[in-house]
Amino acid sequence: MNLVLMGLPGAGKGTQAEKIVDKYGIPHISTGDMFRAAIKGETELGLKAKSFMDKGELVPDEVTIGIVRERLSKDDCEKGFLLDGFPRTVPQAEALEEILADLNKKINFVINIDVNHEILMERLTGRRICKDCGATYHLVFNPPAKEDSCDRCGGELYQRADDNEETVQTRLDVNIKQTKPLLDFYDTKGYLRNIDGRQDIDKVFTDLDRLFGGLHE
Ligand code: AP5
Repeated sequence: MNLVLMGLPGAGKGTQAEKIVDKYGIPHISTGDMFRAAIKGETELGLKAKSFMDKGELVPDEVTIGIVRERLSKDDCEKGFLLDGFPRTVPQAEALEEILADLNKKINFVINIDVNHEILMERLTGRRICKDCGATYHLVFNPPAKEDSCDRCGGELYQRADDNEETVQTRLDVNIKQTKPLLDFYDTKGYLRNIDGRQDIDKVFTDLDRLFGGLHE
């Protein structure tokens, strides 16, 4: 299962990735998570990424492509992988084609979680994440049982630094611009599958699961 999960900020990539990984056991490769881990660890990569992420802009392609190449070469990707939030530009998509050709791998599906962007501000500003296990919640759409702690592990919930209104608006503007050419790129190759991301969380997963069923038969 070699999968790419696409969708505007807040479309539900991370939420669905958790469910896919739980069920199918493939590694979840989120460039956003990798950058956030690097920022937390105060590494050179983190220093490079931080200024772009704080503003809601994209981290430059050369930095992003390098970390994905390295990650996809690891042994745990032999049984498959789930890329989340990469590629985000056509040059990144072209680079991914090269990386996979070098590794003798092919994408099965590029899944676009399709939503109208008007609902995304509310989704992102209401998001809360567990500091310990990374589980994602929403204050209204997927609330934790206890307001400030994780249902899974009891960890403290926090709000991402880029989930404030101003930065969310820039993230949406930047990503809306990049999306159309990327969708066209994958549509032409026949990889693209659209999933209706306006449905509730479980229904989106049911649709994804049905799509993946074909890969196991
Ligand atoms: P990244 O971490 O990838 O963030 P993003 O793309 O902005 O996407 P999000 O993680 O915000 O949203 P999501 O789709 O995962 O939504 P979620 O499932 O959490 O990137 C962050 C930054 O890193 C970028 O801005 C950029 O600077 C940099 N970066 C990363 N990759 C890069 C790349 N390839 N190139 C260059 N720069 C890169 O859901 C959101 C909320 O909605 C949650 O609260 C959830 O509970 C709720 N929700 C989810 N689904 C539903 C539903 N169906 N109904 C109701 N609520 C729902």
